[in-house]
Amino acid sequence: MKIAFFDAKPYDRPSFDKYGEEYGIKFKYFETKLNEDTVELAHGFDGVCAFVNDTVNSVVIDRLCEMGIEILALRCAGFNNVDMKYAFGKIHVLRVPAYSPYAVAEHAMAMLLTSIRRIHKAYIRTKDFNFSLNGMTGFDLHGKTVGVIGTGRIGRVFIDICRGFGMKVLAYDKYPAEGLDNGDTIRYVELDTLFAESDIISLHCPLTEETDHIIDEKSIEKCKKGVVIINTSRGALVDAEALLNAIKSRRVGAACLDVYEEESDFFFEDFSGHIVEDDTLARLISMPNVIVTSHQAFLTEEALSNIAETTVKNIIDLTKNGKCPNELCYRAGTTCDCKKGKCF
Ligand code: NAI
Repeated sequence: MKIAFFDAKPYDRPSFDKYGEEYGIKFKYFETKLNEDTVELAHGFDGVCAFVNDTVNSVVIDRLCEMGIEILALRCAGFNNVDMKYAFGKIHVLRVPAYSPYAVAEHAMAMLLTSIRRIHKAYIRTKDFNFSLNGMTGFDLHGKTVGVIGTGRIGRVFIDICRGFGMKVLAYDKYPAEGLDNGDTIRYVELDTLFAESDIISLHCPLTEETDHIIDEKSIEKCKKGVVIINTSRGALVDAEALLNAIKSRRVGAACLDVYEEESDFFFEDFSGHIVEDDTLARLISMPNVIVTSHQAFLTEEALSNIAETTVKNIIDLTKNGKCPNELCYRAGTTCDCKKGKCF
């Protein structure tokens, strides 16, 4: 079986080669992203493997179907880059629902600590033998309130980490997790309460029509002055322009961004020798209280291995058994018979 693997990076190959060989799947790695212009590369393959910044719109789906390709194996959890409504009934869309919630939650905490304890500044200062502490004052996490939006796999690990720091947790989820609210240190609240009472807000929900720009000018106005925003989920959860304005006006005290609205134009690539045309991104990066990482929260050895193993097993499940527990479905009218009750 041959799979066209788009947006391939050197760090993807060892795990995919290992599990591919074990299960009899041959991956052909294409560095280019999957989109309307590159979809022809999939010709002659049995399936395609795509990642977060590949574009799987109706044109790409139609073309894949015309080529007789029935499998789109996403090697990620989020699927906002796939037109799921259009894909339904045409192509099997598989995903990796969880590969390491620890990787993402630990990265969120790493960014938070870096930002509020000025580690990014200290690293540069001491490299230059500047041992001054001026401007380096941070604040304790102990006793602070963290608002966690989305209490799924990653959100819950992040909550555990925050509890280890002695923080109080206010949680919001469209589908609250049973048994998480202890009525004391972890409480589910309305979104407006979370905005009003949190010192730090961390986003761990998927990108949907409802969550698009969940952090915007209006919600920032409801937040405490000096709130710290962490986004390791999907870029468009935050209105980047509104965030920039709030950083400039000092309403937002710091931002930790592993994802960015327009990241597909930049993230995962080296632009160090180029003029970056995106003024919002450039201005955000120039801020002393903004940390940007390039969608790297997932990037641990454990996660890469889990991603490859689950992707390969998904493809084998589907081709051998005709079904796969990690197949996505979409409640489009009455056509989806999903029993999970969590169709997006
Ligand atoms: P999950 O599916 O386990 O949890 C998502 C939670 O969000 C669920 O509890 C769900 O009920 C909740 N939710 C759904 N709609 C909501 C809404 N409108 N408002 C509030 N909550 C809502 O997903 P998991 O594994 O925890 O991942 C969370 C997100 O993290 C993914 O959607 C993905 O976008 C992002 N992610 C980022 C990575 C990175 O490298 N930066 C890597 C992996 C995931």
